[in-house]
Amino acid sequence: MGITLRRDGGRVMKKLWGGRFKKEMHPLLKCFSYSLRVDQELLEAEIRVNEAWVKMLSRIDILNKGETTKLLSGLKGIAKKFVPKGPHDQLPAKFFFQYEDVHTMLQALLEKKVGTLARKIHTGRSRNDLVVTSTKLYLRDRLENIRLGVLGLQEALVGCAKKAGEEIVAGMTHLKKAQPLLIAHHLLAYVEMLEEDRQRLDDVRKRMDVLPLGSAALAGSAVAVDQKYLAKALGFSKIATNSLQAVSDRGFLAEFLSALSILWVHLSRLSEDFILWNSEMLHWIELDDAFATGSSLMPQKKNPDVFELVRGRSSVMIGHLMAILTLQKGLTLGYHRDLQEDKPGLFSAIKRTELALRLLSLTVGSVSFKKRAMAATLQDDNLYATDLLDYLVRKGVSFRDAHGVSGRAVRYAMELDKPLRKLSMKEWKRLSASIEADVYDLFDPKHSVRLKKTIGSTHPARVRKEIARWERSFKSLV
Ligand code: ARG
Repeated sequence: MGITLRRDGGRVMKKLWGGRFKKEMHPLLKCFSYSLRVDQELLEAEIRVNEAWVKMLSRIDILNKGETTKLLSGLKGIAKKFVPKGPHDQLPAKFFFQYEDVHTMLQALLEKKVGTLARKIHTGRSRNDLVVTSTKLYLRDRLENIRLGVLGLQEALVGCAKKAGEEIVAGMTHLKKAQPLLIAHHLLAYVEMLEEDRQRLDDVRKRMDVLPLGSAALAGSAVAVDQKYLAKALGFSKIATNSLQAVSDRGFLAEFLSALSILWVHLSRLSEDFILWNSEMLHWIELDDAFATGSSLMPQKKNPDVFELVRGRSSVMIGHLMAILTLQKGLTLGYHRDLQEDKPGLFSAIKRTELALRLLSLTVGSVSFKKRAMAATLQDDNLYATDLLDYLVRKGVSFRDAHGVSGRAVRYAMELDKPLRKLSMKEWKRLSASIEADVYDLFDPKHSVRLKKTIGSTHPARVRKEIARWERSFKSLV
Protein backbone atom coordinates (compact mmCIF):
# COMPACT_ATOMS: atom_id res chain seq x y z
CA MET A 1 0.00 0.00 0.00
CA GLY A 2 1.44 3.35 -1.04
CA ILE A 3 1.80 5.96 1.62
CA THR A 4 0.97 9.51 0.65
CA LEU A 5 2.53 12.40 2.49
CA ARG A 6 0.45 15.48 1.98
CA ARG A 7 1.63 19.00 2.72
CA ASP A 8 -0.77 21.56 3.92
CA GLY A 9 -1.66 23.40 0.72
CA GLY A 10 -1.27 26.85 2.23
CA ARG A 11 -4.99 27.26 2.73
CA VAL A 12 -6.34 28.66 5.96
CA MET A 13 -6.62 25.82 8.45
CA LYS A 14 -10.23 25.23 9.35
CA LYS A 15 -9.34 22.56 11.88
CA LEU A 16 -6.90 22.43 14.75
CA TRP A 17 -6.09 18.84 13.86
CA GLY A 18 -6.21 16.81 10.64
CA GLY A 19 -2.70 15.70 9.85
CA ARG A 20 -3.49 12.23 11.06
CA PHE A 21 -6.63 11.90 8.99
CA LYS A 22 -7.09 10.78 5.40
CA LYS A 23 -10.74 11.63 5.06
CA GLU A 24 -12.96 14.58 5.75
CA MET A 25 -15.32 14.30 8.68
CA HIS A 26 -18.79 13.00 7.87
CA PRO A 27 -21.25 15.93 7.77
CA LEU A 28 -23.48 14.24 10.32
CA LEU A 29 -20.64 14.06 12.80
CA LYS A 30 -20.01 17.74 12.19
CA CYS A 31 -23.64 18.50 12.99
CA PHE A 32 -23.41 16.32 16.04
CA SER A 33 -20.19 17.57 17.52
CA TYR A 34 -19.59 21.17 16.45
CA SER A 35 -20.26 23.53 19.32
CA LEU A 36 -19.66 27.04 17.98
CA ARG A 37 -23.35 27.92 18.05
CA VAL A 38 -23.14 27.49 21.82
CA ASP A 39 -19.58 28.41 22.75
CA GLN A 40 -19.56 31.62 20.68
CA GLU A 41 -20.67 32.95 24.04
CA LEU A 42 -17.03 32.62 25.14
CA LEU A 43 -15.57 34.70 22.30
CA GLU A 44 -14.84 37.83 24.29
CA ALA A 45 -13.18 35.89 27.13
CA GLU A 46 -11.31 33.73 24.61
CA ILE A 47 -9.85 36.83 22.96
CA ARG A 48 -8.73 38.20 26.33
CA VAL A 49 -7.02 34.90 27.10
CA ASN A 50 -5.34 34.94 23.70
CA GLU A 51 -4.06 38.48 24.15
CA ALA A 52 -2.40 37.50 27.41
CA TRP A 53 -1.11 34.32 25.78
CA VAL A 54 0.48 36.18 22.88
CA LYS A 55 2.21 38.60 25.26
CA MET A 56 3.43 35.65 27.30
CA LEU A 57 4.80 33.89 24.17
CA SER A 58 6.64 37.08 23.41
CA ARG A 59 8.17 37.20 26.90
CA ILE A 60 9.51 33.67 26.49
CA ASP A 61 10.85 34.49 23.00
CA ILE A 62 8.55 32.28 21.00
CA LEU A 63 7.27 35.37 19.23
CA ASN A 64 9.37 38.37 18.25
CA LYS A 65 8.21 41.94 18.68
CA GLY A 66 6.84 42.31 15.17
CA GLU A 67 4.93 39.03 15.38
CA THR A 68 3.51 39.99 18.74
CA THR A 69 2.23 43.33 17.47
CA LYS A 70 0.74 41.70 14.41
CA LEU A 71 -1.07 39.02 16.40
CA LEU A 72 -2.36 41.49 18.96
CA SER A 73 -3.74 43.79 16.32
CA GLY A 74 -5.26 40.78 14.56
CA LEU A 75 -7.04 39.81 17.77
CA LYS A 76 -8.23 43.36 18.25
CA GLY A 77 -9.68 43.42 14.74
CA ILE A 78 -11.54 40.17 15.35
CA ALA A 79 -12.88 41.46 18.65
CA LYS A 80 -14.16 44.61 16.97
CA LYS A 81 -15.91 42.73 14.21
CA PHE A 82 -17.23 39.67 15.96
CA VAL A 83 -17.65 40.19 19.70
CA PRO A 84 -21.40 40.70 20.16
CA LYS A 85 -22.50 44.21 21.01
CA GLY A 86 -25.93 43.23 22.23
CA PRO A 87 -27.52 40.11 23.68
CA HIS A 88 -29.05 39.13 20.34
CA ASP A 89 -25.92 39.43 18.21
CA GLN A 90 -24.72 36.16 16.69
CA LEU A 91 -21.78 35.10 14.56
CA PRO A 92 -22.52 34.60 10.85
CA ALA A 93 -24.54 31.36 10.58
CA LYS A 94 -22.14 29.82 8.04
CA PHE A 95 -19.42 29.76 10.71
CA PHE A 96 -21.38 27.19 12.66
CA PHE A 97 -20.69 24.54 10.02
CA GLN A 98 -17.18 25.74 9.21
CA TYR A 99 -15.55 25.73 12.61
CA GLU A 100 -15.63 23.09 15.29
CA ASP A 101 -15.65 25.47 18.21
CA VAL A 102 -14.79 28.99 19.31
CA HIS A 103 -11.09 28.11 19.69
CA THR A 104 -10.91 26.77 16.13
CA MET A 105 -12.78 29.75 14.75
CA LEU A 106 -10.50 32.25 16.43
CA GLN A 107 -7.39 30.52 15.12
CA ALA A 108 -8.82 30.46 11.57
CA LEU A 109 -9.96 34.08 11.63
CA LEU A 110 -6.57 35.09 12.93
CA GLU A 111 -4.87 33.21 10.11
CA LYS A 112 -7.06 35.04 7.62
CA LYS A 113 -5.87 38.31 9.11
CA VAL A 114 -2.18 37.72 9.79
CA GLY A 115 -1.33 34.66 7.70
CA THR A 116 0.42 31.51 8.86
CA LEU A 117 1.97 33.38 11.79
CA ALA A 118 -1.34 32.61 13.51
CA ARG A 119 -0.29 28.97 13.64
CA LYS A 120 2.22 29.80 16.35
CA ILE A 121 -0.40 30.95 18.80
CA HIS A 122 -1.32 27.51 20.11
CA THR A 123 2.28 26.84 21.27
CA GLY A 124 2.35 25.37 24.76
CA ARG A 125 -1.34 24.87 25.22
CA SER A 126 -4.26 22.63 24.40
CA ARG A 127 -7.93 23.39 24.01
CA ASN A 128 -8.33 21.39 27.19
CA ASP A 129 -6.69 24.02 29.38
CA LEU A 130 -7.82 26.86 27.13
CA VAL A 131 -11.51 26.09 27.37
CA VAL A 132 -11.45 25.94 31.17
CA THR A 133 -9.59 29.26 31.30
CA SER A 134 -12.02 31.05 29.01
CA THR A 135 -14.99 29.56 30.84
CA LYS A 136 -13.60 30.77 34.16
CA LEU A 137 -13.05 34.28 32.85
CA TYR A 138 -16.55 34.38 31.43
CA LEU A 139 -18.09 33.00 34.59
CA ARG A 140 -16.19 35.42 36.81
CA ASP A 141 -17.70 38.40 35.00
CA ARG A 142 -21.19 37.02 34.95
CA LEU A 143 -20.98 35.96 38.58
CA GLU A 144 -20.44 39.60 39.41
CA ASN A 145 -23.56 40.54 37.41
CA ILE A 146 -25.54 37.94 39.27
CA ARG A 147 -24.24 39.09 42.64
CA LEU A 148 -25.28 42.63 41.76
CA GLY A 149 -28.65 41.32 40.61
CA VAL A 150 -29.16 39.60 43.95
CA LEU A 151 -28.21 42.80 45.71
CA GLY A 152 -30.73 44.71 43.56
CA LEU A 153 -33.47 42.31 44.57
CA GLN A 154 -32.52 42.62 48.22
CA GLU A 155 -32.80 46.38 47.92
CA ALA A 156 -36.18 46.09 46.21
CA LEU A 157 -37.44 43.82 49.00
CA VAL A 158 -36.22 46.18 51.71
CA GLY A 159 -37.94 49.03 49.84
CA CYS A 160 -41.10 46.94 49.75
CA ALA A 161 -40.80 46.19 53.48
CA LYS A 162 -40.48 49.91 54.15
CA LYS A 163 -43.57 50.57 52.07
CA ALA A 164 -45.46 47.97 54.10
CA GLY A 165 -44.61 49.85 57.32
CA GLU A 166 -46.07 48.23 60.42
CA GLU A 167 -48.85 46.49 58.53
CA ILE A 168 -49.73 43.19 60.19
CA VAL A 169 -51.16 40.04 58.61
CA ALA A 170 -52.01 36.56 59.77
CA GLY A 171 -48.69 34.71 59.60
CA MET A 172 -49.18 31.12 58.51
CA THR A 173 -47.78 27.66 59.09
CA HIS A 174 -49.12 24.73 57.03
CA LEU A 175 -50.92 27.50 55.13
CA LYS A 176 -53.19 27.85 58.21
CA LYS A 177 -53.40 30.99 60.28
CA ALA A 178 -50.78 30.90 63.02
CA GLN A 179 -49.79 34.22 64.65
CA PRO A 180 -49.84 37.92 63.75
CA LEU A 181 -46.76 38.91 61.76
CA LEU A 182 -45.45 42.08 60.17
CA ILE A 183 -45.56 41.66 56.41
CA ALA A 184 -42.25 43.57 56.40
CA HIS A 185 -40.80 40.80 58.55
CA HIS A 186 -41.91 38.26 55.96
CA LEU A 187 -40.23 40.26 53.19
CA LEU A 188 -37.02 40.64 55.18
CA ALA A 189 -36.84 36.86 55.54
CA TYR A 190 -36.12 36.74 51.81
CA VAL A 191 -33.48 39.44 52.16
CA GLU A 192 -31.67 37.14 54.60
CA MET A 193 -31.97 34.17 52.27
CA LEU A 194 -30.58 36.21 49.40
CA GLU A 195 -27.70 37.36 51.60
CA GLU A 196 -26.67 33.74 52.05
CA ASP A 197 -26.99 33.26 48.30
CA ARG A 198 -24.69 36.19 47.67
CA GLN A 199 -22.13 34.77 50.08
CA ARG A 200 -22.32 31.40 48.37
CA LEU A 201 -21.62 33.06 45.01
CA ASP A 202 -18.64 34.79 46.60
CA ASP A 203 -17.32 31.43 47.71
CA VAL A 204 -17.64 30.05 44.20
CA ARG A 205 -15.62 32.97 42.89
CA LYS A 206 -12.90 32.45 45.47
CA ARG A 207 -12.56 28.73 44.88
CA MET A 208 -12.36 28.98 41.09
CA ASP A 209 -9.64 31.61 41.28
CA VAL A 210 -6.98 29.24 39.87
CA LEU A 211 -5.24 29.52 36.50
CA PRO A 212 -5.54 26.34 34.37
CA LEU A 213 -3.10 27.44 31.62
CA GLY A 214 0.16 25.53 31.55
CA SER A 215 -1.74 22.31 32.16
CA ALA A 216 -1.91 21.80 28.38
CA ALA A 217 -3.71 18.59 27.37
CA LEU A 218 -3.30 16.81 30.71
CA ALA A 219 0.35 16.46 31.71
CA GLY A 220 1.59 20.05 31.68
CA SER A 221 3.68 21.63 28.95
CA ALA A 222 7.24 21.21 27.76
CA VAL A 223 7.16 24.86 26.76
CA ALA A 224 8.29 27.24 29.52
CA VAL A 225 4.84 28.80 29.79
CA ASP A 226 5.13 31.82 32.09
CA GLN A 227 2.20 30.96 34.33
CA LYS A 228 2.94 33.68 36.85
CA TYR A 229 2.66 36.29 34.15
CA LEU A 230 -0.55 34.76 32.80
CA ALA A 231 -2.11 34.55 36.25
CA LYS A 232 -1.41 38.21 36.84
CA ALA A 233 -2.54 39.29 33.39
CA LEU A 234 -5.79 37.34 33.61
CA GLY A 235 -6.52 38.14 37.24
CA PHE A 236 -6.04 34.74 38.87
CA SER A 237 -4.43 34.65 42.28
CA LYS A 238 -3.35 31.00 42.11
CA ILE A 239 -1.89 28.61 39.53
CA ALA A 240 -3.18 25.04 39.17
CA THR A 241 -0.98 22.70 41.15
CA ASN A 242 -2.20 19.63 39.27
CA SER A 243 -2.55 19.77 35.51
CA LEU A 244 -4.79 16.71 35.34
CA GLN A 245 -7.26 18.13 37.81
CA ALA A 246 -7.22 21.49 36.06
CA VAL A 247 -8.34 20.09 32.71
CA SER A 248 -10.62 17.31 33.96
CA ASP A 249 -12.62 18.74 36.81
CA ARG A 250 -15.66 20.94 36.46
CA GLY A 251 -16.21 21.15 40.23
CA PHE A 252 -16.38 24.92 39.97
CA LEU A 253 -19.32 24.67 37.59
CA ALA A 254 -21.09 22.17 39.83
CA GLU A 255 -20.56 24.50 42.76
CA PHE A 256 -21.78 27.50 40.79
CA LEU A 257 -24.92 25.72 39.55
CA SER A 258 -25.51 24.45 43.04
CA ALA A 259 -25.32 27.97 44.50
CA LEU A 260 -27.57 29.09 41.67
CA SER A 261 -30.08 26.31 42.30
CA ILE A 262 -30.36 27.29 45.95
CA LEU A 263 -30.86 30.89 44.86
CA TRP A 264 -33.59 29.81 42.44
CA VAL A 265 -35.32 27.75 45.12
CA HIS A 266 -35.44 30.96 47.16
CA LEU A 267 -36.72 32.92 44.17
CA SER A 268 -39.32 30.25 43.60
CA ARG A 269 -40.60 30.39 47.17
CA LEU A 270 -40.69 34.16 47.03
CA SER A 271 -42.68 33.89 43.82
CA GLU A 272 -45.07 31.43 45.36
CA ASP A 273 -45.70 33.83 48.24
CA PHE A 274 -46.36 36.73 45.89
CA ILE A 275 -48.66 34.57 43.76
CA LEU A 276 -50.64 33.67 46.86
CA TRP A 277 -50.73 37.27 48.10
CA ASN A 278 -51.92 38.35 44.67
CA SER A 279 -54.69 35.74 44.44
CA GLU A 280 -58.26 36.82 45.16
CA MET A 281 -58.21 34.48 48.17
CA LEU A 282 -55.89 36.90 49.97
CA HIS A 283 -55.46 39.89 47.68
CA TRP A 284 -52.86 41.53 49.92
CA ILE A 285 -51.05 43.02 46.95
CA GLU A 286 -51.78 44.57 43.59
CA LEU A 287 -49.29 44.19 40.75
CA ASP A 288 -48.35 47.04 38.48
CA ASP A 289 -49.94 46.53 35.03
CA ALA A 290 -46.50 46.64 33.41
CA PHE A 291 -45.54 43.47 35.25
CA ALA A 292 -48.72 41.43 34.78
CA THR A 293 -50.34 39.59 31.89
CA GLY A 294 -53.87 38.94 30.66
CA SER A 295 -55.98 36.06 29.41
CA SER A 296 -56.92 35.46 25.75
CA LEU A 297 -60.42 34.45 26.85
CA MET A 298 -61.28 35.87 30.27
CA PRO A 299 -61.23 39.66 30.02
CA GLN A 300 -61.13 40.26 33.76
CA LYS A 301 -57.83 38.44 34.36
CA LYS A 302 -54.59 40.03 35.47
CA ASN A 303 -52.08 37.30 36.06
CA PRO A 304 -48.78 37.08 37.94
CA ASP A 305 -46.79 35.43 35.12
CA VAL A 306 -43.46 36.92 36.23
CA PHE A 307 -43.66 34.92 39.42
CA GLU A 308 -45.03 31.83 37.72
CA LEU A 309 -42.21 31.78 35.19
CA VAL A 310 -39.63 32.18 37.94
CA ARG A 311 -41.22 29.30 39.82
CA GLY A 312 -41.28 27.21 36.63
CA ARG A 313 -37.73 28.06 35.58
CA SER A 314 -36.36 27.12 38.96
CA SER A 315 -36.99 23.47 38.05
CA VAL A 316 -34.97 23.87 34.85
CA MET A 317 -32.19 25.38 36.92
CA ILE A 318 -32.12 22.36 39.23
CA GLY A 319 -32.01 20.27 36.05
CA HIS A 320 -28.83 22.07 34.99
CA LEU A 321 -27.26 21.20 38.34
CA MET A 322 -28.19 17.53 37.89
CA ALA A 323 -26.71 17.62 34.38
CA ILE A 324 -23.32 18.99 35.43
CA LEU A 325 -23.09 16.47 38.27
CA THR A 326 -24.06 13.40 36.26
CA LEU A 327 -21.93 14.58 33.33
CA GLN A 328 -18.82 14.13 35.46
CA LYS A 329 -19.58 11.29 37.79
CA GLY A 330 -18.50 8.45 35.51
CA LEU A 331 -15.58 10.11 33.74
CA THR A 332 -12.03 8.91 34.28
CA LEU A 333 -9.59 11.76 34.74
CA GLY A 334 -8.40 13.43 31.57
CA TYR A 335 -10.45 15.41 29.07
CA HIS A 336 -13.44 13.70 27.50
CA ARG A 337 -15.68 15.28 24.89
CA ASP A 338 -18.58 14.80 27.29
CA LEU A 339 -17.23 17.89 29.04
CA GLN A 340 -18.27 20.06 26.11
CA GLU A 341 -21.82 19.54 27.37
CA ASP A 342 -21.03 21.67 30.42
CA LYS A 343 -21.78 24.81 28.44
CA PRO A 344 -25.37 24.94 27.13
CA GLY A 345 -26.85 24.66 30.63
CA LEU A 346 -24.30 27.03 32.10
CA PHE A 347 -24.94 29.82 29.59
CA SER A 348 -28.69 29.45 29.76
CA ALA A 349 -28.61 29.41 33.57
CA ILE A 350 -26.54 32.59 33.70
CA LYS A 351 -28.69 34.54 31.24
CA ARG A 352 -31.94 33.48 32.81
CA THR A 353 -30.70 34.32 36.28
CA GLU A 354 -29.55 37.80 35.31
CA LEU A 355 -32.87 38.51 33.64
CA ALA A 356 -35.01 37.02 36.39
CA LEU A 357 -33.26 39.03 39.09
CA ARG A 358 -33.74 42.29 37.23
CA LEU A 359 -37.36 41.59 36.46
CA LEU A 360 -38.15 40.42 39.99
CA SER A 361 -36.60 43.58 41.44
CA LEU A 362 -38.79 45.75 39.23
CA THR A 363 -41.91 43.70 39.89
CA VAL A 364 -41.41 43.55 43.65
CA GLY A 365 -40.60 47.27 43.66
CA SER A 366 -43.88 48.11 41.94
CA VAL A 367 -46.20 46.14 44.22
CA SER A 368 -48.80 48.04 46.23
CA PHE A 369 -50.36 46.74 49.42
CA LYS A 370 -54.10 46.30 50.04
CA LYS A 371 -54.23 47.13 53.71
CA ARG A 372 -57.91 46.28 54.22
CA ALA A 373 -57.48 42.77 52.84
CA MET A 374 -54.42 42.27 54.97
CA ALA A 375 -56.25 43.41 58.10
CA ALA A 376 -59.20 41.14 57.24
CA THR A 377 -57.03 38.08 57.82
CA LEU A 378 -56.69 39.18 61.45
CA GLN A 379 -60.42 38.70 62.14
CA ASP A 380 -59.73 35.43 63.87
CA ASP A 381 -59.08 35.37 67.58
CA ASN A 382 -57.45 31.95 67.35
CA LEU A 383 -54.41 33.88 66.16
CA TYR A 384 -53.92 34.88 69.80
CA ALA A 385 -54.05 31.36 71.27
CA THR A 386 -50.26 31.34 71.61
CA ASP A 387 -50.33 34.79 73.22
CA LEU A 388 -52.89 33.43 75.69
CA LEU A 389 -50.56 30.55 76.47
CA ASP A 390 -47.63 32.95 77.01
CA TYR A 391 -49.90 35.14 79.15
CA LEU A 392 -50.64 32.19 81.45
CA VAL A 393 -46.95 31.34 81.65
CA ARG A 394 -46.29 34.94 82.72
CA LYS A 395 -48.88 34.37 85.45
CA GLY A 396 -46.91 31.39 86.72
CA VAL A 397 -48.76 28.50 85.03
CA SER A 398 -46.54 25.75 83.61
CA PHE A 399 -46.14 25.75 79.83
CA ARG A 400 -47.87 22.38 79.34
CA ASP A 401 -50.85 23.34 81.51
CA ALA A 402 -51.07 26.74 79.85
CA HIS A 403 -51.10 25.01 76.45
CA GLY A 404 -54.01 22.87 77.66
CA VAL A 405 -55.99 25.86 78.96
CA SER A 406 -55.50 27.84 75.77
CA GLY A 407 -56.45 24.84 73.63
CA ARG A 408 -59.61 24.27 75.65
CA ALA A 409 -60.49 27.96 75.39
CA VAL A 410 -60.19 27.73 71.59
CA ARG A 411 -62.36 24.61 71.46
CA TYR A 412 -64.94 26.10 73.83
CA ALA A 413 -65.24 29.34 71.83
CA MET A 414 -65.47 27.44 68.55
CA GLU A 415 -68.26 25.21 69.89
CA LEU A 416 -70.20 28.30 70.90
CA ASP A 417 -69.30 29.88 67.56
CA LYS A 418 -68.05 33.05 69.15
CA PRO A 419 -64.68 34.76 69.11
CA LEU A 420 -62.39 34.32 72.13
CA ARG A 421 -62.62 38.00 73.01
CA LYS A 422 -66.36 37.60 73.56
CA LEU A 423 -65.91 35.12 76.44
CA SER A 424 -67.08 36.58 79.74
CA MET A 425 -64.84 36.86 82.77
CA LYS A 426 -66.86 34.06 84.34
CA GLU A 427 -66.14 31.77 81.42
CA TRP A 428 -62.44 32.65 81.56
CA LYS A 429 -62.30 31.90 85.24
CA ARG A 430 -63.83 28.49 84.61
CA LEU A 431 -60.99 27.82 82.17
CA SER A 432 -58.27 28.95 84.57
CA ALA A 433 -58.19 30.78 87.88
CA SER A 434 -55.04 32.55 86.73
CA ILE A 435 -56.87 34.47 84.00
CA GLU A 436 -57.70 38.06 84.89
CA ALA A 437 -59.34 41.07 83.26
CA ASP A 438 -56.16 41.99 81.39
CA VAL A 439 -56.74 38.92 79.20
CA TYR A 440 -58.83 41.15 76.91
CA ASP A 441 -55.73 43.16 76.00
CA LEU A 442 -54.44 40.13 74.14
CA PHE A 443 -56.81 40.36 71.20
CA ASP A 444 -55.00 43.04 69.35
CA PRO A 445 -52.48 42.39 66.57
CA LYS A 446 -50.30 45.37 67.51
CA HIS A 447 -50.14 44.15 71.09
CA SER A 448 -49.32 40.66 69.89
CA VAL A 449 -46.30 41.64 67.80
CA ARG A 450 -45.04 43.95 70.54
CA LEU A 451 -45.01 41.05 72.99
CA LYS A 452 -42.18 39.46 71.02
CA LYS A 453 -38.86 39.92 72.73
CA THR A 454 -36.26 37.86 70.89
CA ILE A 455 -33.59 38.99 68.47
CA GLY A 456 -34.93 38.35 64.98
CA SER A 457 -38.58 38.53 66.07
CA THR A 458 -41.41 40.38 64.39
CA HIS A 459 -41.53 43.17 67.04
CA PRO A 460 -41.97 46.39 65.00
CA ALA A 461 -38.96 48.05 66.66
CA ARG A 462 -36.80 45.07 65.68
CA VAL A 463 -38.12 45.09 62.14
CA ARG A 464 -37.46 48.84 61.86
CA LYS A 465 -33.90 48.29 63.05
CA GLU A 466 -33.42 45.48 60.56
CA ILE A 467 -34.56 47.69 57.70
CA ALA A 468 -32.08 50.35 58.80
CA ARG A 469 -29.32 47.75 59.12
CA TRP A 470 -29.92 46.47 55.59
CA GLU A 471 -30.02 49.98 54.19
CA ARG A 472 -26.68 50.76 55.85
CA SER A 473 -25.13 47.56 54.56
CA PHE A 474 -26.25 48.27 50.97
CA LYS A 475 -24.85 51.77 51.20
CA SER A 476 -21.50 50.47 52.42
CA LEU A 477 -21.30 48.19 49.38
CA VAL A 478 -21.42 50.99 46.81
N1 ARG B 1 -15.11 22.31 22.36
C1 ARG B 1 -14.40 21.64 23.41
C2 ARG B 1 -15.13 21.82 24.74
O1 ARG B 1 -15.88 22.73 24.83
C3 ARG B 1 -13.03 22.18 23.55
C4 ARG B 1 -12.01 21.21 23.99
C5 ARG B 1 -11.82 20.18 22.95
N2 ARG B 1 -10.71 19.36 23.25
C6 ARG B 1 -10.47 18.24 22.60
N3 ARG B 1 -9.42 17.62 22.91
N4 ARG B 1 -11.31 17.76 21.73
O2 ARG B 1 -14.96 21.07 25.66
